[in-house]
Amino acid sequence: MRLHTIACLLLGLGLASLAPLTTATTPDRITSIATERCEACHGLGGQGNNSMFPKLSGQNEAYLVQQMFNFKSRARRSSVMEPQLADLSGEDIVLLARHFSSRPLRGTPTSDSQLNALGQTIYTQGNPASGVAACHVCHGPAARGGQMLPRLAGQHAEYLELQLRRFIERSRTTDQTLMHSVAMRMTDEEIRAVSYYLSGLN
Ligand code: HEC
Ligand code: HEC
Repeated sequence: MRLHTIACLLLGLGLASLAPLTTATTPDRITSIATERCEACHGLGGQGNNSMFPKLSGQNEAYLVQQMFNFKSRARRSSVMEPQLADLSGEDIVLLARHFSSRPLRGTPTSDSQLNALGQTIYTQGNPASGVAACHVCHGPAARGGQMLPRLAGQHAEYLELQLRRFIERSRTTDQTLMHSVAMRMTDEEIRAVSYYLSGLN
C-alpha cells in the first residue's frame, strides 16, 4: 500500500485530525504501546537485542504495515504476533509502522570473511548454475528493499535464515510463490552465507 493511499484511507475515515501523520512525531499513546509492549521482544527502538525477534527499525513503513495486517488477519500465521495486535486499530498499526521505520538500524558484520564473500556473491549474482535469482533484483542494490519489499540490510542473520527456511517449507503463509521459488534452490550454506552477509550491512 502506498503511503498516500494509507493517508487517503484515514482521511476517508474522517481521521483528518491525524494531520501529524506527515511529520516524524509519534503520539504519546503509540509511544507507550511501542515501549511497553513491542520493545519487550523487538528491542529498544525496534533495534533488536535478541535474534529470535526481527529488527523493526529502519524497515520500510509500507512493508511493516502489510505484515501487521497479515498477522492480524492470520494470513501470515504467528501465535506470538497475533495477540500483540488483537486490540490495535488500523490507525495504531500505521502509526506504529511509522514509529519503528523512522528509527535507525545498524548491522553487525560477521568476522567470517569467506562466508561474507559467498553471501555477497549470492546477493549480487545469485547462483546461475542452480537457478537462484540474484536478490538485488528485488531487494535493491543496498538491500534496502522498497515499499512492500522488505529491507534485509542489518537484519538479524538468524531471523533471515529462519524466514528463508519457512519460504522453502511454505510455512510462511504469505507470498509463497516469489520467495519460495528463490529459496527452494538454495543450499544450506548459501542460506547461511547470504543471511550473515546481509546482517552486516547498514
Ligand atoms: C512476545 C514477543 C513479541 C512482542 C511483544 C511483539 N512481537 Fe512482533 N514479532 C515477534 C516474533 C517472534 C516475530 C516473527 C514472527 C514469525 O515470522 O514467526 C515478530 C514479527 C513482527 C513483524 C514482522 C517483521 C518482518 O520483518 O517481517 C512486525 C512488523 C512486528 N513483529 C511488529 C510488532 C509490533 C508493532 C509489536 C508491538 C505492538 C510487536 N511486534 C510485539 C515477537 C513479538
Ligand atoms: C522476484 C523478487 C524477489 C527476489 C529475486 C528475492 N526476493 Fe526476497 N522477498 C520478495 C518479496 C516480495 C518478499 C516479501 C514477502 C512477503 O510479503 O511476505 C520477500 C521477503 C524476503 C525475506 C523476509 C524478510 C522479513 O523481514 O521477513 C527474506 C529473508 C528474503 N526475502 C530474502 C531474499 C534473498 C536472500 C534473496 C536472494 C537469494 C531474495 N530474497 C530474492 C521478493 C524477492
